[in-house]
Amino acid sequence: MSAPNKSYDPVEVEALKPEQIERMRDEALAAFEAAGDLEALQEAKVAHTGGGSPLALANREIGALPPQAKAEAGKRVGQARGAVNKALAARQSALEEERDARVLVEEAVDVTLPYDREPAGARHPLTTFMERVADVFVAMGYEVAEGPEAEAEWFNFDALNFLPDHPARQMQDTFFVEGTTPEGKPTEGDESGVVLRTHTSPVQARALLEREAPVYIVCPGRVYRTDELDATHSPVFHQIELLAVDEGLTMADLKGTLDHMVQSLFGPDMKTRLRPNYFPFTEPSAEMDMLCYVCKGASVGDPDRPCRTCSSEGWIELGGCGMVNPRVLVACGVDPEKYSGFAFGFGIERMLMFRHNVEDMRDMFEGDVRFTRPFGMEI
Ligand code: PHE
Repeated sequence: MSAPNKSYDPVEVEALKPEQIERMRDEALAAFEAAGDLEALQEAKVAHTGGGSPLALANREIGALPPQAKAEAGKRVGQARGAVNKALAARQSALEEERDARVLVEEAVDVTLPYDREPAGARHPLTTFMERVADVFVAMGYEVAEGPEAEAEWFNFDALNFLPDHPARQMQDTFFVEGTTPEGKPTEGDESGVVLRTHTSPVQARALLEREAPVYIVCPGRVYRTDELDATHSPVFHQIELLAVDEGLTMADLKGTLDHMVQSLFGPDMKTRLRPNYFPFTEPSAEMDMLCYVCKGASVGDPDRPCRTCSSEGWIELGGCGMVNPRVLVACGVDPEKYSGFAFGFGIERMLMFRHNVEDMRDMFEGDVRFTRPFGMEI
């Protein structure tokens, strides 16, 4: 800073010349005007009003002037700084207003949108369909029965007359659950005696042991087999099991019950047919087919009317059925001289697939709402 000097002429101090002060003021005003947003204005503010700005530096020079020059220079610099601060404040509030208006538009919330129209969750079509099937039987007086998915091998196989060497028990079909031996060691392979149930038929044995005959139960549930996941197989799937045990039941009752079920689910002109088969727990046993609900059999032998649903077979395979094997009744404490019974079981995924033209079973397990939404929002 210059030392006080009585003969010092203020106009000789370059920074305090009127045109220099005006230039500094005008540069500051131009910089504020040019600032397009609050950030740029903050930079201009530091540059033109901060401690290192030309006007602040000029202000410091005033102290070095002789007294008579101080007042004049002080007034000039003071007026320039006043004008700069005023312009800064005006630009600041203009830019703030602009920002507020923009934020209001950009971040607008439409408070008039209905708040209660968010899509509600829905149960999976497999669940609702399984219950619809079960309801057909509940309406006829059947009770819904359940059993565990991790099931004793005895219920899954032995009680149902599967001999110890029956191929269905093998590791390649059945998931064996690990357990501990009486000595506390982990079991190996198939020695735990616990399996993930391979069908819903063990619930037949459980129901007969739990209840007094007559017994009428329907059992929807999840079952497991060591199948690879592909378009028509899954290691986890669902079945519906039906069991009726009473005095005097015959295969005609089985046939009539099956016909009633397919008529309830697919329409009044539906029917079923039985083909001989073998299951250890029914005797006699049959495969059950239902009439193709699309072509009603008309596609058979008519190349002009091919049917994709039944591959022009006229019939669709549903599952297995038969008269309860007396050996099962005996294993479950029911007198086979007094009581007879029928049972059937079929896969829900397969039925849902052909009922709704689903081509890939995996679509049912992936949880993608684009698959489930067309089934509606039933809960
Ligand atoms: N449990 C058999 C299966 O999974 C189906 C069946 C049930 C057969 C009841 C006869 C009686 O293949």
